[in-house]
Amino acid sequence: MTANDAPSGKQPTATYDSAFLKACRREPVPHTPVWFMRQAGRSLPEYRKVREGIPMLESCARPELVTEITLQPVRRHGVDAAIYYSDIVVPLKAIGVDLDIKPGVGPVVEQPIRTRADLARLRDLTPEDIPYVTEAIGMLTRELGATPLIGFAGAPFTLASYLVEGGPSRTYENAKAMMYGDPQLWADLLDRLADITAAFLKVQIEAGASAVQLFDSWAGALAPADYRRSVLPASAKVFDAVAEHGVPRIHFGVGTGELLGLMGEAGADVVGVDWRVPLDEAVRRVGPGKALQGNLDPTVLFAGKDVVEAKAQEVLDAAAGLEGHVFNLGHGVMPKTDPDALTRLVEYVHGASAR
Ligand code: CP3
Repeated sequence: MTANDAPSGKQPTATYDSAFLKACRREPVPHTPVWFMRQAGRSLPEYRKVREGIPMLESCARPELVTEITLQPVRRHGVDAAIYYSDIVVPLKAIGVDLDIKPGVGPVVEQPIRTRADLARLRDLTPEDIPYVTEAIGMLTRELGATPLIGFAGAPFTLASYLVEGGPSRTYENAKAMMYGDPQLWADLLDRLADITAAFLKVQIEAGASAVQLFDSWAGALAPADYRRSVLPASAKVFDAVAEHGVPRIHFGVGTGELLGLMGEAGADVVGVDWRVPLDEAVRRVGPGKALQGNLDPTVLFAGKDVVEAKAQEVLDAAAGLEGHVFNLGHGVMPKTDPDALTRLVEYVHGASAR
């Protein structure tokens, strides 16, 4: 089955016919669909309120809370898709990796993975490890009506960067040292992570997610030849593993201007683009047969309404010749963003692109 086939399983026809899924399938749309990476749980006061006193990873395991947080930006901004509230490290935590998300820092791993013996600690992920994911997505798809839900996971490289470094890094020196110095261990680690990631995405799709996004947020640190040799095979394995479900697969990274062609080659239906490459140039790099997602610089939202609208219009103009365009930011919503600026941006994109 391909992304162009008729709806199946749990997905209602109205969801299948939504502007977001149509744009992903490169079909004509009534308006350019828009959603924001990190729209859930970043800048919203109602998010901070419901999260009070609840650690991040604990919040991801509470289906009612997950449902509420996922719905908040849909209600407030009228975006064309919801993104499941979770985190890229949730499947790793679920298989027993000793990690936590430290506020203001990010994921921190108690014992980093540096040796073959460490790798043996990464076991398979089964649906029984994450019953709360199935439960939350079931609740969500009932509440969302025609609005599609995007499931997501971290790509093998980005997950490996946290596991090998032990936390966030700017240089990825330990991860890259393994990639260059022990290519077999590196390949085995990425392959292991590909299986875990594919299993995590399958649970989300089977529970009712209508599309999936693979976040390879930090892949931009790699030269194209290294990406092709040492990372692409694992990401391609993830995309292949979920292809049979027929939902659109989105592939995103930051600073990936030089990798856009390869990221498309890995098997995605939609390639996410950050703000550094205009979409009319990005489409040349990605090649035909893929939709694009992006790519307003998230800091533009701090500059005032007229600037936001002018810059959003530049994105729409650059996307005019695309077969499929999903409007988004070039990376996640920044925590200090004014939520009203996001709501106005959704209204602007819908109005300016109405056909
Ligand atoms: O729209 C959404 O926000 C959906 C949920 C979501 C979260 N993380 C929740 C979260 C998504 C899609 C992610 C993905 C994620 N997590 C990525 C890829 C996306 C990207 O921005 O490139 C990465 C690299 C991570 C790892 C991670 N988790 C980081 C870097 C951080 C931020 C640390 C900080 O506090 O600055 C987290 C924590 C995290 N994940 C928060 C949320 C809402 C903030 C924690 C909190 O509110 O206490």
